Amino acid sequence: MMRYASVTDRLAGLGSDKWAVHIRAREMKRAGHEIIELTIGEPDIPTPTDMLDVAEHAMRTGRTGYSNGRGEPGVLAALSAKYTARTGRAIGPEHILCFPGTQTALSLVMLGLAEEGDEIITGDPLYATYDGVVRATGATRVSVPLRPENGFRMQAADLEKAVTPKSRVLLLNTPHNPTGAVLSAKEVAEIGEVCRRHNLWIVSDEVYELLIFDGSFASPLDQPELADRTIAVASISKSHAAPGFRSGWCVGPAEFTQKLLPLSESMLFGVQPFIADMTAYALGQPSAAAATMRESYFRRAQLISKRLDGIAGIGADVPQAGMFILADIRATGLSGNDFAMRLLEEEHVAVMPGESFGDNLAGYLRLSLSVADDKIDAACAGIVRLATRLQQRKSA
Ligand SMILES: Cc1ncc(COP(=O)(O)O)c(C=O)c1O
Repeated sequence: MMRYASVTDRLAGLGSDKWAVHIRAREMKRAGHEIIELTIGEPDIPTPTDMLDVAEHAMRTGRTGYSNGRGEPGVLAALSAKYTARTGRAIGPEHILCFPGTQTALSLVMLGLAEEGDEIITGDPLYATYDGVVRATGATRVSVPLRPENGFRMQAADLEKAVTPKSRVLLLNTPHNPTGAVLSAKEVAEIGEVCRRHNLWIVSDEVYELLIFDGSFASPLDQPELADRTIAVASISKSHAAPGFRSGWCVGPAEFTQKLLPLSESMLFGVQPFIADMTAYALGQPSAAAATMRESYFRRAQLISKRLDGIAGIGADVPQAGMFILADIRATGLSGNDFAMRLLEEEHVAVMPGESFGDNLAGYLRLSLSVADDKIDAACAGIVRLATRLQQRKSA
């Protein structure tokens, strides 16, 4: 029998049950059923053609060699400009490392900060891959409840209760997936104060920075008193409708990036120069793609909220940001899992159960906004029909 490292056990079967509805929806599609799929969130517009032109030109003019571990000079300069302008402090290339997407950035950053015996704190609900990111390090995940009555925004008092002597890192996500919650600068400062008191790192997942409908973006990276303990991670996946290019980065203290560089080099040996050129170009101007997505996702969120409002006790508040809306179906008496599975079988509408994103989202559904308006409308009709049937059954 061959032996494997314990990391394979820690990650085995991770989350496959969370995707049961999505997997069943794909099966039904293959069997010929027409399914309206609101499970996955992925930009529904193509990567802008001017970006593709830059990547193609770069490829054709020899930008296909090896890069270096930190990133190509052009993209480092573009990121320096972005974060210097945003933070009001000088953020040079020594503060930055490029990675293939936020996901890689999260994983490698976390490997540099925590290990077995440590605790990493996240909100609950949380983005589905965070469990794997934490477990890969060997650390244990500890949750802070994100409460509907606070608009799912993490509160410093709740964080304080989750801290133990083993806590090393707070993994913060604003704007938040799946709730769309956007932390205010005051909330970030209060959360940061707890982290300062307990000497915690803050890893700030900011992939939805440009997809805010309501409120303004605040990051611990932008607060000078938190800068020495904050590492922000982001990418062009959402902001520029370019998830397949896998172009992301982290920004943090120079000492941190220097310490992490050998790990990044040993794993990645640099990222693709032609994609770096495309990313540098994209970061050099306002994102028209983000403006388009903000407009359509906000419109669809309003549409869903209006359609579901008060039907059989259901509610769906318009989120502050992102690519999803949550529907509160607790009044139907069904769990999110049971409602979502019945919705798929009976109405051929696929949505994610809230439970897939943590215990605190039990009795909710997550609906993707990156689907055309007519499909959104038909999905709402299916939800209304099922909820109405459930209510009639209850009162009969
Ligand atoms: C909160 C959050 N973080 C990270 C990612 C991954 O982004 P990337 O494509 O940059 O790896 C996603 C993608 O859905 C996300 O929702």
